Amino acid sequence: MRKISLIALSLVLLFISSSAQDMPKNYAALLKEVEPQLISWRRHFHEFPELSNREFNTGKYIVDFLKTLPNVEVKYPFAKTGVVAILKGGKPGAVIALRADIDALPVYERSALPFASKVTTEFNGQKVNVMHACGHDSHTAMLMATAKMLSNMQKEVPGTIVFLFQPAEEGAPENEEAGAPLMIKEGALDNPKVEAVFGIHISSQTPVGTIKYKSGSFMASSDWFTIKVNGKGSHGSQPWGGVDPIAASAQIIEGLQHIVSRQMDLTKAPLVITVGTIKSGVRSNIIPETAEMTGTIRTLDTKMQEEVHERIRNTVKTIAASSGATAEVVIDTKTLVTYNDPALVKKTIPSLMKAAGEENVSESTWTTGAEDFSFYAAKAPSFFFNVGGMPKGTDPKKAGPHHTPDFYLDESGFIVGVKAFCQLVFDYGKTK
Ligand code: NI
Repeated sequence: MRKISLIALSLVLLFISSSAQDMPKNYAALLKEVEPQLISWRRHFHEFPELSNREFNTGKYIVDFLKTLPNVEVKYPFAKTGVVAILKGGKPGAVIALRADIDALPVYERSALPFASKVTTEFNGQKVNVMHACGHDSHTAMLMATAKMLSNMQKEVPGTIVFLFQPAEEGAPENEEAGAPLMIKEGALDNPKVEAVFGIHISSQTPVGTIKYKSGSFMASSDWFTIKVNGKGSHGSQPWGGVDPIAASAQIIEGLQHIVSRQMDLTKAPLVITVGTIKSGVRSNIIPETAEMTGTIRTLDTKMQEEVHERIRNTVKTIAASSGATAEVVIDTKTLVTYNDPALVKKTIPSLMKAAGEENVSESTWTTGAEDFSFYAAKAPSFFFNVGGMPKGTDPKKAGPHHTPDFYLDESGFIVGVKAFCQLVFDYGKTK
């Protein structure tokens, strides 16, 4: 008995160690070599951030680097300032796309880092500071490092790898086409036909060294709405002489929250409706003619998304009508629900565990943040997951959140992203 269990144990150990050595012999040495480069690229992008659809220097920097890699075909520009690169591996396998977004945000950086951004520019007619306050600088650097690694292991790489360096994830200036939908429209997933897409988002509130994922719907859809209420002007002392669009707007805001709390089944998925702006009136004793509100809707279920649109239109119109006003509702879908293909997730979790260590990979809940990665996920089986960038021992509540001046990343987490990408390529690629 004892002998048998010892044999079984050594077989298990052999299996574990051989699975850890699934990667080419020079893998560990290449990782060691690429890490300082990865960090210096990230610092460069961090110091010189560019806003959505304006990533001119960022795009060129990526292209100049990719052109130094043997076996890599570069297509530029793509979706305005983006880059698509293709590496054909030496072994048969799947066509896999790996995606990084490359744009920064109109945020001021409050930091003493030597590579802190001092960049200012113009955005929708306003002067703004620019900061990589969502970590897209790290995404870009991780994907460049992955390209270098895979190019150096080309003979052993299974399948074909498509690197997507995508502009404008955060949303472009008004009336510009941008981001993942434009990458797709220009054929980023077509030639060669991509069979699976993987994407990473660094997280400033997830401990460094860890990976968090969720199967099925993971990140919310994002719709932006505008509600215009048309009333009738009157003297502020005689509201009965007009139709007050501000009072009607107050009822509408209340009504929108009743959709969330009283009408939708929140046990299926979360739902958020936020009114972010409201504009009306010029003076305290004049009832104005109109009021305008804008806001956002977040859902994690496509059917709920459709239903909530219908309910918002109905609620707004009937509340407005009850006071004699009329209202117009415009809803613009910015991103879809980011859906992680359950079969793909199940198949590739072991690769993430090999990359980060089994104990460092765990399931997370959904998030009401949104991602334009969702458009790739609507075209091909996809998997989008979080890699930790929060220094060990930090209280997540005290870590600078994304999109804020205090956003901060621990650079030692980036190599985990590179390992995850490489491992996914080798393991998933081979299964084809
Ligand atoms: Ni982001």
